[in-house]
Amino acid sequence: MKKLPIVVLISGRGSNLKAIIDAKDPLVEIKAVISNKPQAGGLLLARQANIKTEVLDKFTTKLEFDQALQNCIDKYQPKLIVLAGFMRILSPDFVNHYQGYMINIHPSLLPAFKGLNTHKRALEAKVKQHGATVHFVTAELDAGPIIIQAQVPVYPDDNEDILATRVLNEEHRIYPQAIHWFAEERLQLHGQQVLLDNQPIEVSNENF
Ligand code: GAR
Repeated sequence: MKKLPIVVLISGRGSNLKAIIDAKDPLVEIKAVISNKPQAGGLLLARQANIKTEVLDKFTTKLEFDQALQNCIDKYQPKLIVLAGFMRILSPDFVNHYQGYMINIHPSLLPAFKGLNTHKRALEAKVKQHGATVHFVTAELDAGPIIIQAQVPVYPDDNEDILATRVLNEEHRIYPQAIHWFAEERLQLHGQQVLLDNQPIEVSNENF
């Protein structure tokens, strides 16, 4: 099987990027890592793994940024775009351009806790289960069709850091898994429906 060329978009420390690199998936080739922050720790991880890096931080308007990002991505001709802690909201035009081959990981059990500070809000809401979600990216923020979720328990004495670490461990497991399915050509987006092996996907952490 041919390797799936991917680009990974980051803004920060890049622990999900590291999980993808460390997975050493024989079906996946990371063509480039693109960051909107020059100081993102993940850029160093990429360079250490001999992966090309790009920084896009000098754009004034959102339109200019999205255009530059699109040009930068398209240079590598990826078949999948992986948002891994990429903390910029992308314009609907940009997102629609890559519909069906751009995925994101979010630190909550979507649709619960879209947006920022998910662990703090989960603790405040006193939920018993929290987790992470990998989903296709659509124009509506954190609302795209779900590929896989992982649940973790929330304990009464948890704080934000403890909970974030518990969730992050699961992120590092499910993100390489979702990318692997895509590389195996088992995963597709049909309208708002995610198909795995041509069947509507059952969203649970029992999928693998
Ligand atoms: C991860 O927890 C990821 O789920 C989250 O940012 C963190 C990045 O960590 N993403 C979002 O909140 C997107 N809305 P990392 O840089 O160590 O992978």
